[in-house]
Amino acid sequence: MSKIFYPNRDFSKKAKIKNMCEYNEICAEADDNYEAYWDKIAKEKIDWFKPYNKVLDEGNAPFYKWFIGGKLNITHQCIGRHLKNRKNKAAIIWEGEDGSRRIITYLLLYYRVNRLANLLKEKFGIKKGDRVVIYMPMIPEATFAMLACAKIGAIHSVVFGGFSAEALRDRIIDAGAKLVITADGAYRRGNPYLLKPIVDKALEEKCECVENVLMVQRNFEEVNLVQGRDHIYNDIIKNYSEFCKAEEMDSEDPLFLLYTSGSTGKPKGVQHSSAGYILWAQWTMENVFDVKENDTFWCTADVGWITGHTYIVYGPLAMGATTIMYEGVPLYPDAGRWWKMIEELRVNQFYTAPTAIRLLHKVGANEPVKYDLSSLKVLGTVGEPINPDAWMWYYETIGGGKCSIVDTWWQTETGGHIISPLPGATPIKPGAATFPLPGIKAEIIDKDGNPTPKGEKGLLCITKPWPSMIRTIWGDPDRFVKSYFGDCKKNGKPVYFSGDAAIYDEDGYIFITGRTDDVINVSGHRLGTAEIEGVIGHEEHVAEVAVVGRPDDIKGEDVFAYIVTKKDIDEATLIKNINILITKEIGPIAKAGSILIVPGLPKTRSGKIMRRILRTIAKGEKITQDISTIEDSSIVGTIEKIFKEQK
Ligand code: WT7
Repeated sequence: MSKIFYPNRDFSKKAKIKNMCEYNEICAEADDNYEAYWDKIAKEKIDWFKPYNKVLDEGNAPFYKWFIGGKLNITHQCIGRHLKNRKNKAAIIWEGEDGSRRIITYLLLYYRVNRLANLLKEKFGIKKGDRVVIYMPMIPEATFAMLACAKIGAIHSVVFGGFSAEALRDRIIDAGAKLVITADGAYRRGNPYLLKPIVDKALEEKCECVENVLMVQRNFEEVNLVQGRDHIYNDIIKNYSEFCKAEEMDSEDPLFLLYTSGSTGKPKGVQHSSAGYILWAQWTMENVFDVKENDTFWCTADVGWITGHTYIVYGPLAMGATTIMYEGVPLYPDAGRWWKMIEELRVNQFYTAPTAIRLLHKVGANEPVKYDLSSLKVLGTVGEPINPDAWMWYYETIGGGKCSIVDTWWQTETGGHIISPLPGATPIKPGAATFPLPGIKAEIIDKDGNPTPKGEKGLLCITKPWPSMIRTIWGDPDRFVKSYFGDCKKNGKPVYFSGDAAIYDEDGYIFITGRTDDVINVSGHRLGTAEIEGVIGHEEHVAEVAVVGRPDDIKGEDVFAYIVTKKDIDEATLIKNINILITKEIGPIAKAGSILIVPGLPKTRSGKIMRRILRTIAKGEKITQDISTIEDSSIVGTIEKIFKEQK
């Protein structure tokens, strides 16, 4: 049985949701009348241009629609409506890796976004519904770009700056983007690095859809500019007006696409809506992080991931909070950087990934004591299960034993938090995401919808639609239905399956155990093994390949590749070739930590690779699975032997 930690009493007294009775009451209210519950908060939270006439339309399930007929603009929710009372409040506090700072107030954010919105419209002819790819470092202009798109109704697709030219190109083509917004580069570990050349390379092939590139100068390094296609933001932005009328958006108009890896094929363009998405971003900021008017909120993610979208940009700004954006890496100039920033900026809520906590614990265990971290009230984690050691260090050393840790489980597809403690209410257990948020029907069930008995692994499903859910996969509605609504049913009706397995403990707490599919989680980033296999398969010496996840102390999981070669090659060269290829076609985040050359792979008689066995070997565990269905079962022993020798 794990130990229970109760919320700090003084904190609870002032919290939005103060105890489990209140939590249970809100859940009951949502259960009693689901639509009335969502109706109430949508009316309360969103500043509508025109009210909706229906809360939920289930007619074309699983293509659910929310707040039908409502009109709004996200930038009014995130900026415009704050100008009355918060015009001089810091919206964004940005810190460069070199320590320089920029503070952008709500009024200045309003002007910046308007200018850029006008530029997009007037210079590039971007209209409502056009796609804009944003490939940017962590600078305020990345946020301006997202919001400028939202202002005029263009659909943004932010591509993480760590992705390669090939990966960027695939996403540009899939979205049919008309414009790419980028920067010359930025700084990492004290050195300038470049992004623009990666955009140039991406656009070399098959990107006819792209008419223009807008480049922000951040480090003023020398980069190539293509006449007529490329434009420098810094030179032209001042020509555009600081006033711009917001496009009237329908509740269901897409706000953005964000590509994420699936278990098969190419990445999926997850499409989010306008109203449902912003409602949940804001509600979770208020209730899960319990952000108050004068608080400073810091989420360390990159804007290229959903965590950055919802909890650096949209959630904090919708609430009128102050959000921190940091350009660099956590170890620069040393492992105390983040703690120093918390002290100097008096951060109140801090949100990061278990992998970062493990890293900073390992390389900088003595750093936190050098700083005053007493401003912290709530700590958050996301992206992967957190191990008890890392949890305790976070709780005691960073939080001083007085901050609740909100272990938030959610996904790119869910838009915002789904299962999480409420910091003033929920007694927490290390490693548990605890309970679903009010109004969210997350359940652990089997394929037919029967609840899983306590202590047993089951499938983590969301059995009712919720406002911030994925609307479709861009350009591939069939894949949307198959990927998320093809595996589990409840009362005969398809329900959303997350791809994760989870367990209820004896007290009904939810513990996430990890993916059930061929998706792995490296440093909180989701990677499809099929995608990596596809890339490795292009190496000329490779005959066959199978990629699985292998547990890693810092990264959580690491890429482990089994390779059958077709031509002789020495191991070191093969490993080098493969990692160059992966870096080129996906990005360094997908590099293989271990590669094992084997004479064959375990397969069923029908030729399917038995990955479960390969996963077990990679973990260094004993094989307990039935191997009688393997075509040549001696291969298992051979692979195990090679694995042990290499270790
Ligand atoms: C996958 C989603 C949502 C933000 C970051 C990742 C894993 C996420 C937790 C958590 C255990 C977690 C799941 C999920 N995951 N949060 N608190 N505990 N696992 O977004 O790239 O869409 O990945 O991350 O496996 O399915 P993503």
